[in-house]
Amino acid sequence: MHRLAVLSSGNGSNFKAIAEKLAESDHTLACMICDRREALVFEKAGKLGIPAYYVNYMGRPRSVVEEEIGAVLKKEKVELIALAGFMRLLSPALIDLYESRILNIHPSLLPKYPGTQGIQESFNSTDEELGITIHHIDYGLDTGPVIMQKSFIRQGDETLEEIESRIHDLEHIWYPAVLLEILNSIP
Ligand code: GRF
Repeated sequence: MHRLAVLSSGNGSNFKAIAEKLAESDHTLACMICDRREALVFEKAGKLGIPAYYVNYMGRPRSVVEEEIGAVLKKEKVELIALAGFMRLLSPALIDLYESRILNIHPSLLPKYPGTQGIQESFNSTDEELGITIHHIDYGLDTGPVIMQKSFIRQGDETLEEIESRIHDLEHIWYPAVLLEILNSIP
């Protein structure tokens, strides 16, 4: 029915969870796009048989790289984009092209702890309630309208690894579910 792309830079655990969820649906995970050649997400895409594309940002203007991304999205007939650990900011030009069709997952209860250290900063905080945010993107860093937040109450004696694992568990349940719901709602 509808076609999703995932943009990732790293391990790809969210990518895998999304791929598995979509495999049970009428929708297609059309492709994965990654800016790090050595990222583990490529191995996961290979195993799942999902087309994977490397885009090289090193020493190149963002506009040129985004033209390549745009060409892949067009070729793969992508209708919805899920950022999942993608460590680059997209430019307004690309965001406007997919107006309100680009989502992001963030491992904190935004607006708390935006940026790349969301888990560490959540852990370091004295907050009792920690969690995740799924949101539309806008031109800012981890800003944009919130679609869903899910949280848990920390026990107080958990290690960083345990907190990280609780956060990922929430991500892997709720991000695929939200994406599926949005794909279902596209006319
Ligand atoms: C997730 O924690 C996500 O919230 C953040 O980056 C991490 C990506 O993990 N934006 P993975 O690559 O999906 O395993």
